[in-house]
Order: sequence, then C-alpha cells, then structure tokens
Amino acid sequence: MVDTPSSLVQNFLARPEVHQQWSRDYRTGDNETFFEQAFDHILRVLKPSPGATFLDAGCGSCAHSVRLARRGFNVHAVDFSESALAMAQDYVSSKQLRERITLGRESLLELSFPDDTFDYVLCWGVLMHIPEVERAVSELSRIIKPGGTLVVSEGNKASLEAVGLRSLRRLLRREKAEVREKPEGLEYWTAKSGDALVTRQANIRWLIKSFEAHGLTLTRRVAGQLSESYTRLSAPPLKQLVHVRNNFWFQHVRWPGPAFGNIMFFH
Ligand SMILES: C[S@@+](CC[C@H](N)C(=O)[O-])C[C@H]1O[C@@H](n2cnc3c(N)ncnc32)[C@H](O)[C@@H]1O
Repeated sequence: MVDTPSSLVQNFLARPEVHQQWSRDYRTGDNETFFEQAFDHILRVLKPSPGATFLDAGCGSCAHSVRLARRGFNVHAVDFSESALAMAQDYVSSKQLRERITLGRESLLELSFPDDTFDYVLCWGVLMHIPEVERAVSELSRIIKPGGTLVVSEGNKASLEAVGLRSLRRLLRREKAEVREKPEGLEYWTAKSGDALVTRQANIRWLIKSFEAHGLTLTRRVAGQLSESYTRLSAPPLKQLVHVRNNFWFQHVRWPGPAFGNIMFFH
C-alpha cells in the first residue's frame, strides 16, 4: 500500500513523544497568562449560554477543553491520535472534569457527526498539521449549526516572525525542513523514521476564502501570540521578554496582521 501524505502525518502524530514535546513547549506557566486571556476574550465574543457544548476539534492533551470546562461549559474533545487522547484522559481526570469533558477518536477529514451538530467548535493549531486541509475545512463547516460559530487559530505566514525567520534562514542557508509553497500557505515538512509531519504557516486569505466557499463568513480576526519564538529560545530572560510582548499585544493591540498566531471567528 502506498503511503499518502495524510497517512504519513497520522503515523507521525501517533507517537507520544510528539505530544509530550508540544506540552513542554506550550503548556508552560509563562504561557498561561496569554491563553487564559485568549479564552476569556473568545467567550466574551461568543457569549454562549451557561452549560453550552463545544466541540474541541483536534484537542491534543485537552488544555483548551479544560479552559472551557473550568468556565462552566461542556466539551466533546476529539483527536485522531490515540497517544494524544491518552494524555488528554489523564489530564482531564487530574482536573476532575470528566463530567464536563467527553473524549472521542475522530479524524477531521471524516467526522462522524451529522450535518449541523454543534453551536460552537474550536479548532486550535490543528489545520496547520493537515495535508488535505480543504477537506477538513469542508468537514468543520458541515458540522456547524446554522448560526453557530467556529473559532480557528492558525500560524500566519505573513507575520513579522514568519517573514523575518524565512529571510534569515535563506540568508544563512539553514533550512532543516523541506519547504513547499502552496496556495494554502508555506508547508514545512519534517521526516522521522519514514513518517512525516507538516506544519503550515497559513495563507490567511486563502483560509478565509476556503471557509467562505463552504458557507461560513469571517466575523472577527484578532491576533493570537505575536511570536512563538519562546519555543526556540533557551535563555529565560529572553523567553520572558517574548511573553511580555505577546501579553501586551494581546491586551492592548490585538492587530492580527503582524502577529504569528491569528484567531478567526466564522459564523
Ligand atoms: C499542535 S496539536 C494542538 C492540540 C490542541 N488543539 C492545543 O492547541 O493544545 C495538533 C493536534 O491535532 C491533531 N490532529 C492533526 N490532524 C488531525 C486530524 N486529521 N484529525 C484529528 N486530529 C488531528 C493532532 O493529533 C494533535 O493532537
């Protein structure tokens, strides 16, 4: 059987160490200020009724499901990776939120839910790892109820950080990953023992048009994190500086154009 790009990525994401590394990079005390503020903002915009249900599509370790559950909402959290779901199960149990968060195995390329199932869907940092992203866009658009809202967070290929790093790597000829330029964005492919992971810096315009082609409309686009360079820095004062700038940008500016993270609301 020939391996497709999607099956290579699925095999890569079956590895527990990939999810453990993401937890070490992103689930840090320093990052919590941003994420807590971001979820307060999301809920101020959405104004869901108490007890409303969210689908967390590509939940990983369930960090964001837990944020929603702690704020009084129910969450159906799904991922196609068994190892991510195992981590999620432990995390949800450790927070004693098993009554609010249910877990399930699903692929965003073929969701088992009927059309128009959810009022609220969160898809944070997931589309960037899906080679057939248009199919996932179609599936997410299908399962949103008319009048419901989908919140998507993706990396922005036109951000200051993405453009700056790209130029620097070109200059120094230091690109480790295979880079593919596509209408969907810039794809960085890294291979490991025959499996592969794609991480896309999205062409945000393409993404918006793609959701629009499936009947959703962008109602709001705000900055996420201005920079994720803290994942590559080792000196604590430099990391701190990045977090301070990120928190300032999110609290006082929120302009998405220059920001690496972009949060989009589709209705
Ligand atoms: C970078 S992690 C983000 C996890 C979580 N949303 C967060 O922000 O903490 C990406 C997650 O998407 C999942 N994923 C990637 N492609 C998927 C697909 N086609 N169907 C379901 N889950 C997928 C991965 O297994 C991984 O857990």
